[in-house]
Amino acid sequence: MKLRDAVNIGDLRSIARRRVPHFVFAYVDGGAEDEVTLRGNCEAFARLRFRPRTLVDVSKRDVSTQLLGAPSALPIVVGPTGLNGLSWRDGDLELARAAAAAGVPFAMSTVSMSLAEDIARQAPGRLWLQAYVFADRRITDALIRRALDAGFEGLMLTSDFPVAGKREGDLRTGLLPTQQFTLATRLDMLMHPRWLATVAMRRPRFVNVERELPPGQNVNSFVGHGMFDPSFRWADLRHFRDLWPRKLLLKGVLRADDAQRAVAAGVDGLVLSNHGGRQLDGAISAIEALPEIRRAVGDRPAILVDGGVRRGSDIAKAIALGAAGVILGRAPVYGLAAGGAAGVTRAIEILADEFDRTLALTGCRDVGELTPDLIAPPSA
Ligand SMILES: Cc1cc2nc3c(=O)[nH]c(=O)nc-3n(C[C@H](O)[C@H](O)[C@H](O)COP(=O)(O)O)c2cc1C
Repeated sequence: MKLRDAVNIGDLRSIARRRVPHFVFAYVDGGAEDEVTLRGNCEAFARLRFRPRTLVDVSKRDVSTQLLGAPSALPIVVGPTGLNGLSWRDGDLELARAAAAAGVPFAMSTVSMSLAEDIARQAPGRLWLQAYVFADRRITDALIRRALDAGFEGLMLTSDFPVAGKREGDLRTGLLPTQQFTLATRLDMLMHPRWLATVAMRRPRFVNVERELPPGQNVNSFVGHGMFDPSFRWADLRHFRDLWPRKLLLKGVLRADDAQRAVAAGVDGLVLSNHGGRQLDGAISAIEALPEIRRAVGDRPAILVDGGVRRGSDIAKAIALGAAGVILGRAPVYGLAAGGAAGVTRAIEILADEFDRTLALTGCRDVGELTPDLIAPPSA
């Protein structure tokens, strides 16, 4: 199947699966332990049903919106995903280019394989930095200052990674924790000559982190082993609030009390997330947590939701239940692995088309008309 023949995100996933070696696909596609939460994210969206309005003139529709105080062509963010340089040469740059062309924000992961400064120069759209808090806090602060200098408008602190989730797919291929690849993985790489020539020959690296490491430290061994600080706690938020004068988001919130605490600490936005089912297996999904959290924090803080968004209708459901928009994790990365920036663009086009159709089919003309009454109450 070719990119242009992909009619949904599942098709892009199928193309991606064939195009990259198994260890790359397993990293992108997999989740933690039994993948209960990974599956649960999609199932939670599927369980929600619309109560569509009928006989509304929907001949003129507008899918654009405001996200964090600035316009976005769609209520989506191309979210932070690590190791994109394994899916495609300069993968992070490709994602950022496609996001900028589509008029939506891009969040660069801490473990990006393209330099923040290059992304800001070559993909000048709305850019956010996703920050993990390193055990050596100077690394985090240095990354944040560089993003500020490069003109990034948002900082998204990820709070759900005190330790890495147990991702069994990555343990089996040898990607994590040490990149000691198994023989089967090495052979599989050899079966993908195009990937070898375009991706592997260039040895993708954690270029942003690498710059900040003390001499003699090897980033690859560093990444798997206690890289992030499990003592990151509420009291630390003030430091980041002081360091970052622009929009600050906390990613990884799933409870109303935590949401209230984050708002009290001065964050501008909440990202309800279970990390795409890659961290705590058994966690609830963000879309399930959304109604309670929206009630608890009121109208003010922007709420973004992620996990399991594979259809435009999922975006509509999240907005109807009180989100400003959604963050996409795997969907654009399937596109990236399937065909670089063109594949990411295809993923966004597919979701945009489905979202627009959902607006029309639910009797809505714009994002503001997606209200909670459109969603049927859970059946007893
Ligand atoms: C391949 C991959 C890498 C990810 N890397 C990061 C990361 O570096 N930082 C982060 O905060 N979240 C990361 N995430 C989580 C995503 O930001 C997002 O929360 C999740 O993927 C949403 O679920 P979805 O993939 O079902 O859309 C990653 C997710 C995937 C699939």
